[in-house]
Amino acid sequence: MTSVLVTGANGQLGRCLQDASEKYPQLSFFFASRNQLDIENQEAVTALFSEKKFDYCINTAAYTNVEKAESEQKKAFNSNAKAVKHLALACKDAKTTLLHISTDYVFDGKKTTPYLETDATNPINEYGASKLKGEQYIQEGCKKYFIFRTSWLYSTYGHNFLNSILKFAKERKEITITTEQTGTPTNANDFAKVLLQVIASENKQYGLYHYSNAGEATWYDFAEAILNYSNQNDAIKLAKTDHYPTFAARPKYSVLNTEKVSQNLNLETVHWKKSLQKLLND
Ligand SMILES: NC(=O)c1ccc[n+]([C@@H]2O[C@H](COP(=O)([O-])OP(=O)(O)OC[C@H]3O[C@@H](n4cnc5c(N)ncnc54)[C@H](OP(=O)(O)O)[C@@H]3O)[C@@H](O)[C@H]2O)c1
Repeated sequence: MTSVLVTGANGQLGRCLQDASEKYPQLSFFFASRNQLDIENQEAVTALFSEKKFDYCINTAAYTNVEKAESEQKKAFNSNAKAVKHLALACKDAKTTLLHISTDYVFDGKKTTPYLETDATNPINEYGASKLKGEQYIQEGCKKYFIFRTSWLYSTYGHNFLNSILKFAKERKEITITTEQTGTPTNANDFAKVLLQVIASENKQYGLYHYSNAGEATWYDFAEAILNYSNQNDAIKLAKTDHYPTFAARPKYSVLNTEKVSQNLNLETVHWKKSLQKLLND
């Protein structure tokens, strides 16, 4: 039976993978939360890989606080780069295929058309820099890998933009949301299904891929759609700003071109609005 290790299993994507795994009885999953496997603990990683045989490892574990990463650069680097380097080597030694998750924040956002996998990277914040370093360590350290850069993940789990807006709608009368950045909101449930499809299809076209839902939006557009699809337009007044001060700089434009994932891995991407509406109405 094909065995799959999922790191960071209590995070947003990890929990969506747990849900999606129910449709794959032919795969045997080992969901490791941070308590069960701290990927920064190299001895623990080595011990787990010698104790159990994994055909695949999906690494969702990451330092994901974009704002705090500016002052906790070392912590971000330890999780997103140093630990990933060791994990990639453990995968190589064990002949395990690594599916690693990266981010649209490896780009500086100066483009005005969707980013290709071949476009030059130039992160403008510490989080993006640490994630890029993680990608590079994987590319140097092992051959059987898929790196998926994704963007603006949301789901009903954890801290994310969807849950924040739904919470604000209950607690506040007005919120101001930025139009400063354009990207693609991506339903983490869709992404989890895609990752498991790649494994189940035994696809071996390894490499770097961009995956997101289709279309593009500003954070304001995303907030407006959340309120619209959850029938809460009247619950809260939505105001626009073209400048919302943050510690971390964010790319102004970070839409990902997903043609490669569609062609090589035969995966369909759903429009972000359609996927959001389905999640809120189901
Ligand atoms: N969320 C987004 O908008 C977004 C966008 C693009 C790419 N991504 C990438 O997508 C992946 C999944 O993100 P997500 O939204 O699921 O993030 P998340 O909800 O923050 O989940 C990450 C999980 O990793 C765990 N973790 C952190 N350091 C760890 C370590 N050293 N060892 C083991 N587990 C550790 C966290 O545990 P604690 O909670 O205990 O720290 C958390 O459970 C990440 O690689 C992220 O960089 C996310």
